[in-house]
Amino acid sequence: MINRLKRLFSGNMEPITTAQTAWLARVQIRKMVEEDLPSLEWDGEYTHFRRVYQDAFDRYRRGLTVLWVAELPGTGVIGQVFIQLICDRPELADGANRAYLYSFRVRPEFRNAGLGTRIMQVVFDDLRQRGFRNLTLNVAKDNPRARKLYERNHFHIVAHEAGRWTFQDEKGGWQTVEEPAWRMERRL
Ligand SMILES: CC(C)(COP(=O)(O)OP(=O)(O)OC[C@H]1O[C@@H](n2cnc3c(N)ncnc32)[C@H](O)[C@@H]1OP(=O)(O)O)[C@@H](O)C(=O)NCCC(=O)NCCS
Repeated sequence: MINRLKRLFSGNMEPITTAQTAWLARVQIRKMVEEDLPSLEWDGEYTHFRRVYQDAFDRYRRGLTVLWVAELPGTGVIGQVFIQLICDRPELADGANRAYLYSFRVRPEFRNAGLGTRIMQVVFDDLRQRGFRNLTLNVAKDNPRARKLYERNHFHIVAHEAGRWTFQDEKGGWQTVEEPAWRMERRL
């Protein structure tokens, strides 16, 4: 299915039609289960995050994080977003009022059809039910399209973030990411 869609979309810059996005109605946005972990690696593109994903799942089990996936029946997981309910930086997530959205991505073949927006709506509703009042995220300064999407969804910039973090890759080697970002926030 993914390859078929790749063929459909490759080099095709025409506006997306209803027929092309009919798959959207079949997408299920649900909480992640352990069996989903390998599918987050996207055929090798995100293998370096294997331990990061496993750590996030361990935090999810402990009730500190909520992990969402978007699944297209017959195709598999095509999108994800992680929500920290609490972390060591209360300005990002404080466990009561403010939560932090990260690791938000939709597989390229399925972008620009409204799925990302739908995933965010599910996240907003879930957090409201949990009593949270604010949602934060960091968006890389070199990702203006994502920033625009967040602005349309009522996030606004509240701070600059150096965006430096380290993680252990799947082989145990330490990697450093440096991605200057805007911290954005919205009321829920
Ligand atoms: C950011 C991301 C998750 C958004 O997912 P998405 O499914 O493409 O999101 P949406 O389709 O809801 O919105 C994206 C765009 O499609 C447009 N769109 C929404 N519904 C549409 C529709 N039915 N037809 C055509 N366009 C549509 C939106 O207006 C938006 O337009 P933009 O190009 O001006 O931003 C996705 O682009 C992605 O994975 N990007 C790479 C990773 C990334 O940057 N993540 C964010 C890190 S902070």
